[in-house]
Amino acid sequence: MKAYDAIVIGSGAAGLYTALKLPREWRIALLTKENLTLSSSQWAQGGIAAVVEPDDSFRLHYDDTLAAGAGLCEPEAVRVLVEEAPERICELIALGVEFDRYQGRLAVTLEAAHSRKRILHAADATGRELVRALVEEVQALSNIRVIEEALAIDLALDGGRCRGVLVDALGVREWYMAPVTVLATGGAGQVFAYTTNPAVATGDGIAMAARAGVALRDLEFVQFHPTALAIEGAPRFLISEAVRGEGGQLVNLAGERFMGRYHPRGELAPRDVVARAIFDQMQSSGATHVLIDLRPIGEALIEQRFPNIAHVCRKFGVDVFGEPVPVAPAAHYWMGGVVTDLDGRTSLPGLFAVGEVASTGVHGANRLASNSLLECLVFAHRIAEAVRSSGISRTATGIIHFPPAAAQSPVNFELVQRIRNELPWLVWRTCGIIRDADGLRRGLEQLQMWKQQLSGVDATTERATLEVRNLVIAAQLLLKCALARTESRGGHYRSDHPAPDPAWQVHTEIAEGRLFQT
Ligand code: FAD
Ligand code: SIN
Repeated sequence: MKAYDAIVIGSGAAGLYTALKLPREWRIALLTKENLTLSSSQWAQGGIAAVVEPDDSFRLHYDDTLAAGAGLCEPEAVRVLVEEAPERICELIALGVEFDRYQGRLAVTLEAAHSRKRILHAADATGRELVRALVEEVQALSNIRVIEEALAIDLALDGGRCRGVLVDALGVREWYMAPVTVLATGGAGQVFAYTTNPAVATGDGIAMAARAGVALRDLEFVQFHPTALAIEGAPRFLISEAVRGEGGQLVNLAGERFMGRYHPRGELAPRDVVARAIFDQMQSSGATHVLIDLRPIGEALIEQRFPNIAHVCRKFGVDVFGEPVPVAPAAHYWMGGVVTDLDGRTSLPGLFAVGEVASTGVHGANRLASNSLLECLVFAHRIAEAVRSSGISRTATGIIHFPPAAAQSPVNFELVQRIRNELPWLVWRTCGIIRDADGLRRGLEQLQMWKQQLSGVDATTERATLEVRNLVIAAQLLLKCALARTESRGGHYRSDHPAPDPAWQVHTEIAEGRLFQT
């Protein structure tokens, strides 16, 4: 058993910033299942939203966030998000994050559904710059012990509290105990066949929380990014929304600009609208993609703003200066998550959640672009403040003995591989951009069968199987909530219930396996 004052699970923006913000005299374990820099945060492109310009205001950022959230944002959480943003940005600058500047001032750009230019960026690799600075700081602090290749398996429960977590660190199973455990495990894009997320996004935090009976909210809401690179054999690399913000145009394979037919704001319509419009174009023409043309942006600006996108496209045979880029929608962000209060507390005492794994209430049914990195920073700070002022005892109490490891897993390796390959396609087909009750029911039946076939899996099972178990649980929760919500709203679209229903202006919540409305 290892004892710490706090355990932070995950090394994206949320985990890194929480670890940095917790009291410096605390001994902190920062666990990450691969390496410090493999995360969605590292891959973030467009930027971080914050009010920094005189023609902008908290009220406008608040209103835009609420409008995107389609009636399900928690207003107080949004207020906190937008009002605390500038302070967090100043801290990042003090830490050495180099945002782009224009004539000495912070440069800002526009993204979909923002009424003002308020996206701070570092070219088209904002996440890389942010993570670089946070990692350097974390590595300089002696109170933070970074443990890479450390997979958190299950929360340690004792006396109605979370006391830490069971970890597989390079094959060694051990309990890490602490009075404060922070889930910062990110999203679950890997439940979908097409995703912009890295391989580590397997929904472990949601699955761990579900197994511990922790309250989860709004899991049916998934954001599909409209423009991911769609080339056979290439990953679904993101073509940032900022490309459209700077003038990039969407065209179908007949060369027609089509967004004007779907929304008055054209390419800058809300993300769900653009994603469904592209999907519609693909369905009606039988094409596997549409195209995004960067040329209207102009060569100089492309070079300055989108060097990484140009580089990656070139690697896959597309010259953004001379031709449009094939794109299609891909699962990008999970709005739902572990319910928290404004200080990151979950329904389980001792357990906090932050970042994409959390449902703080700021995104509602649909996230406004570039509000996610911001949420990581704002709520990481609030967790640290809450912990500091709560007088939580630093002494870990309650020792849990890990049951002796079973000699071998009773689960068949081929079965696990089959589920790993088939699940993302099942979820894409049945719970993708357009859903209906029949598909969702079929999907749930298959997932239930897989769950039963994996019933021999327990904490002693090998790592790849544990991740597949988590994918099955995350997918089941997602489909269950998507079936329950018989309307369309934000990131959840049901072809059998295509309109929003005022009676459904409520959250779905799952706690102790029960689904209800709040
Ligand atoms: P992540 O950054 O995903 O980090 C999760 C961490 O948890 C990883 O280190 C992972 O290894 C670890 N982990 C997971 N499970 C376990 C486990 N069982 N045990 C131990 N460790 C575990 N948002 C914006 O606001 N602006 C943008 O420009 C933007 N661009 C994006 C571009 C891309 C390609 C993607 C995929 C997302 C983008 N987003 C953007 C969304 C945003 O990046 C993420 O929502 C945000 O970074 C999530 O941060 P996080 O710290 O919660 O999770
Ligand atoms: C992007 O750059 O398009 C991603 C921004 C985001 O997900 O907020």
